[in-house]
Amino acid sequence: MQAAVHTPVASKPTFPAVQALAAADMAAVDALIRRRLASDVVLVNQVAEYIVGTGGKRLRPMLTVLAARAAGYRGEAHHQLAAVIEFIHTATLLHDDVVDGSDLRRGRATANAAFGNAASVLVGDFLYSRAFQLMVELESMTVQKVLADTTNRIAEGEVLQLLHVRNPDTDEAAYLRVIERKTAVLFAAAAQLGGHLAGIGAAGEKALFDYGMALGYAFQIADDVLDYAGDAAALGKNLGDDLAEGKATLPLIHALAHSTPAVRTRLRRIVLEGDAAGFGEVLAAIEACGSLDYSRAMAQRHAGAAVAALAALPDGPDRAALAALADYAISRPS
Ligand code: IPE
Ligand code: IPE
Ligand code: MG
Ligand code: MG
Repeated sequence: MQAAVHTPVASKPTFPAVQALAAADMAAVDALIRRRLASDVVLVNQVAEYIVGTGGKRLRPMLTVLAARAAGYRGEAHHQLAAVIEFIHTATLLHDDVVDGSDLRRGRATANAAFGNAASVLVGDFLYSRAFQLMVELESMTVQKVLADTTNRIAEGEVLQLLHVRNPDTDEAAYLRVIERKTAVLFAAAAQLGGHLAGIGAAGEKALFDYGMALGYAFQIADDVLDYAGDAAALGKNLGDDLAEGKATLPLIHALAHSTPAVRTRLRRIVLEGDAAGFGEVLAAIEACGSLDYSRAMAQRHAGAAVAALAALPDGPDRAALAALADYAISRPS
């Protein structure tokens, strides 16, 4: 399909309106996810059902569905592609919670807290490989190449992050390198491949890739702000997990760079020790430095870039919905 000439993105629907717009497709995606989760190994079913059954926002598969529709797709393969994306995402969550030592996700005990680290890691592997089984059925070499590269980049991102644990010298550039890989590349692939299924062409795929990448940056920066300033009940995750793991995310990196020498020395020690008890002190420094506003402004810029990338796509309700998701990524409570 030929991309329309650059048209501005008009008024954006609310997130519930986007969910309503995508509801029928997302119900099909959900049904597919549940059908294809099955294994004859009981523990696989239990753990997979445990994490998938608690929901999640399903944001990434929604990108795939909306991108395909925005590009004029008429078939049904986008449901399976969306399920593949969500399986990959869920696998990363199972592994991430083990690595981060997190015990709360989606409002209840993490799988590692409920079933142990070994079960979480192994069922994460099951979900990854089940994602590849579903992906191969789509018989698209482009889908296979993009997702092989994407999952490989995600793994690199998580390892890169590990290398920065308890390192108070982690700077903004290093932080951005990590979040591009651990988070943004999957958003980019989800959007690009939706367009690819629809045969949107190279320019349209590039626009969707750029949209997803910028959205992914915005989403992760917002997540890192929420880890300090969110409402834990709404978020369904504990605040302070990043600090407890010795992870210097953007708010803390900014505070480290802008605090008085005495406060900086304290902050450095807290990061070095991965000292969860220092949360209040870190939060005070972050607030004193305007680090949350700084981070929110950066998330806002990325969200703006995501919306701008959409100008290359044909105008319509699906494009407007994609634009709305950029707002949602940075204003979400959970
Ligand atoms: C959590 O992603 C992992 C991050 C990249 C921050 P989501 O916030 O999309 O998780 P769910 O799927 O909605 O629970
Ligand atoms: C998640 O980053 C990235 C991946 C799952 C690859 P976070 O560690 O910030 O995500 P949450 O906060 O645990 O959801
Ligand atoms: Mg985590
Ligand atoms: Mg987080």
